[in-house]
Amino acid sequence: MSRTLPVQKNEYIEVVFEDLTHDGAGVAKVDGYPLFIPNGLPGEKAKIKVIKVNKGYGVGRLIELYEKSPYRVDIPSEEQNQYGGCQLEHISYEGQLIYKENQVRQVLSRIGKLEDVVVHPIIGMDQPFHYRNKAQVPVGEKDGKLIAGFFKPRSHEIVDTDESVIQLPEVNEAIKAVKEICGELGIPAYNEETHKGVLRHIMARYGKQTGELMIVVVTRTADIPFKNKLIEKVTARLPQVKSIVHNVNSKRTNVILGEKTSVLWGNEFIYDYIGNVKFAISALSFYQVNPVQTKVLYDKALEYANLSGEESVIDAYCGIGTISLFLAQKAKQVFGVEIVLEAIEDARRNADLNGITNAEFAVGEAEVVIPTWYKEGNTADVLVVDPPRKGCDEALLQTIIDMKPTKVVYVSCNPGTLARDLRILEDGGYKTLEVQPVDMFPMTTHVECVAQLVKKL
Ligand SMILES: C[S@@+](CC[C@H](N)C(=O)[O-])C[C@H]1O[C@@H](n2cnc3c(N)ncnc32)[C@H](O)[C@@H]1O
Repeated sequence: MSRTLPVQKNEYIEVVFEDLTHDGAGVAKVDGYPLFIPNGLPGEKAKIKVIKVNKGYGVGRLIELYEKSPYRVDIPSEEQNQYGGCQLEHISYEGQLIYKENQVRQVLSRIGKLEDVVVHPIIGMDQPFHYRNKAQVPVGEKDGKLIAGFFKPRSHEIVDTDESVIQLPEVNEAIKAVKEICGELGIPAYNEETHKGVLRHIMARYGKQTGELMIVVVTRTADIPFKNKLIEKVTARLPQVKSIVHNVNSKRTNVILGEKTSVLWGNEFIYDYIGNVKFAISALSFYQVNPVQTKVLYDKALEYANLSGEESVIDAYCGIGTISLFLAQKAKQVFGVEIVLEAIEDARRNADLNGITNAEFAVGEAEVVIPTWYKEGNTADVLVVDPPRKGCDEALLQTIIDMKPTKVVYVSCNPGTLARDLRILEDGGYKTLEVQPVDMFPMTTHVECVAQLVKKL
């Protein structure tokens, strides 16, 4: 098969990178045949080795850089960059923002055929490092020592890491402390291959506004050896800790959290604020990982909703009600819809916590619940959607088109599905006025957008 392709496996060739993939790998083409090479940047000339050839694309390894991109920067850890979730760390932050903004513009034009929409310059962070308020790291053993970090792809090998450039220092410190304490106590690490041992993952969550820390230890076994000593040492070394939670995951699985969760010490929740809204965060709650940019994103969503206080608003895919509670402060009534029951329980608790009485929450699929409301004669003035990466279900988009809210605010973590859905809404009578990209995840390839649509007259 490979004989018909323009490159052979194990061949060394010279290329110029033209683009980046969604994973941050460089894209080079040989007679139109695309090659993906981790660590290559657009504009760079390099020698590569072809390590894999498929029918539609090949994969290469960077051997030598002949011409460097002006956006290339030195990085402390190649492994963290490629496997540890920091795929763009080798690009200066200025370069990352240019890449993300261009990606949004290109996708809106190519997939959405939205030629005249205003795409604002992306809103980046002043401090793009150390922003994540949560980490969950796998635990293993090497040379008799407890280690924790990240898995090398397609392997059971853990790279021991104490310092992630995207996690808050408090989160890095917490993971390191718990790892060292467990090592000192001799708590055995879980072994994925043999399904033996105890400690599987260590998780830390930090409320940036409150300074409250939660530690979650995930074990295979129902018991934790030296449990009391562990609590004593963790609380002594990490004075910010307000909650230590034990999660039991006895299954052979890649899923981190298991079937049983109990509080080992302290509270069930830690608290945090986004703007003036207070959130109770439990070990299992979904909570945005970049609190600084979340506020920026929600403020933009609120601005695009342009509420006067008289509107009825539907917040589809509402999670724990974060956007709903922001909107409720400016709307007459907000109805949130979310598929996960526990998230809706959190949303109701968070509404109570903030004394918000004009937000109601329903459990179910947005594409089922909202059409039902519409058939029952209930409509909204403003509809906000914040779907997962796959975008909105077509049945929901059709209901929006039929319901005719005057404004739609679309919050998206995937420009491709955003563009697809905006095209459907445009064809159904809406006009996309503006799109604001927001960098919620510096050093990674992800980009968030919020779009404002109005009903055409
Ligand atoms: C991108 S998150 C947004 C959460 C929330 N708006 C926030 O900012 O925290 C998408 C949410 O949609 C929920 N979800 C996924 N499919 C759904 C569906 N068909 N109907 C309703 N909710 C769904 C997920 O559980 C998740 O909470």
